[in-house]
Amino acid sequence: MSTARKLVIAIDGPAGSGKSTIAARLAKKLGYVNLESGAMYRALALKAMERQVSLDDGEALRELADGTAIELEPRGEGNRVLLDGRDVSQRIRDTDVTAAASRVSIHPRLREVMVGRQRELGLDGGVVMEGRDIGTAVFPNADVKIFLDADESVRAERRVLQDGSHSPEKAQRVLAELTARDQRDRTRLASPLAAAPDAVHIDTTHKSIDDVVAEVEQLVKKVDRR
Ligand code: DC
Repeated sequence: MSTARKLVIAIDGPAGSGKSTIAARLAKKLGYVNLESGAMYRALALKAMERQVSLDDGEALRELADGTAIELEPRGEGNRVLLDGRDVSQRIRDTDVTAAASRVSIHPRLREVMVGRQRELGLDGGVVMEGRDIGTAVFPNADVKIFLDADESVRAERRVLQDGSHSPEKAQRVLAELTARDQRDRTRLASPLAAAPDAVHIDTTHKSIDDVVAEVEQLVKKVDRR
């Protein structure tokens, strides 16, 4: 499927709701660029950890971000992420960076920098951008806004399966981490994880990836015809 116009498609939702997979598949089908905004927070968090910049110091983090190049290179599934030219695609998925990304992302000054860069990346349209505040703060005028969600236990289970090995202890730990991160992402003052009033909600708990992609494609078609 191709679209007549180069649209901006915003996909938001909590961890494990299916954002990354759905965004990547949809972008491929449309011939669009898939951009993972969370990878930018993850990369910056990694640099802060390496430089021993406090994750609680918003101003220092903003300064750090000002002097940092973060590139997202779209690939088949997900993005290759370059931090000052270094490939950190794998490292930023580790649990320590995951927790740190959630912590750095609460700071409004840092978010200003990130949101500005994300807007630039989507300026020409033809993008599927996924994150927490894409439909609310980054592209409030996005052509299509989707908010994905799923039951917490299912989202945790998906994360466990993604990592390969499975054990009851690991499942419990992942669920606890996910709950803590959700809580922080939803309750922070600056652009908390929330659905835009005009976003279409899709609960992916009992749906296959193909079903969700097809549903979003229908929404895109409708908007494209307008
Ligand atoms: O989508 P993700 O799990 O890679 O995101 C990592 C963290 O970055 C997440 O805990 C919250 C933050 N984030 C954000 O605040 N705004 C976004 N648009 C994307 C991610």
